Amino acid sequence: MGRVARVDFEWHDQQVKAGDRLFLSFAGANRDESQFPEPDRFDIGRADNRHLGFSTGPHYCIGAALGRLEARLALEALLRFPRWELRELPAWLDNLTVRGPKSLRVALG
Ligand code: HEM
Repeated sequence: MGRVARVDFEWHDQQVKAGDRLFLSFAGANRDESQFPEPDRFDIGRADNRHLGFSTGPHYCIGAALGRLEARLALEALLRFPRWELRELPAWLDNLTVRGPKSLRVALG
């Protein structure tokens, strides 16, 4: 996510001046092992799960509740199928902010 610094400050020995443009990696923060034990392990039941998937602070995603509801409905529908078969290796999005496949073709049975 892009941000513009409003004031001068120091961050991890870096001097940031008011007006500097910053690029913040929320995805990187979500894999911070000092915050999340075994960050690369998918664990849907993590406790104290203070991830930045929907950001934080004044720009917190206004659609977070809808996003969560859609994800729950989609997963509930998909998980009824016991057999999943990947039809092709996915092509990945060429995007610094969103990491994921362009599409994921799966045969369900
Ligand atoms: C899984 C789905 C979604 C994800 C992962 C997501 C993620 C995010 C993130 C990370 C931000 C913060 C951007 C920033 O800090 O600059 C954001 C902001 C926002 N999102 Fe979402 N979002 C999702 C779904 C939605 C939906 C369904 C809506 C609307 C119906 C929505 C509307 C918005 C709006 C309007 C903002 C700007 C809020 C602001 O800057 O005050 N999002 N979203």
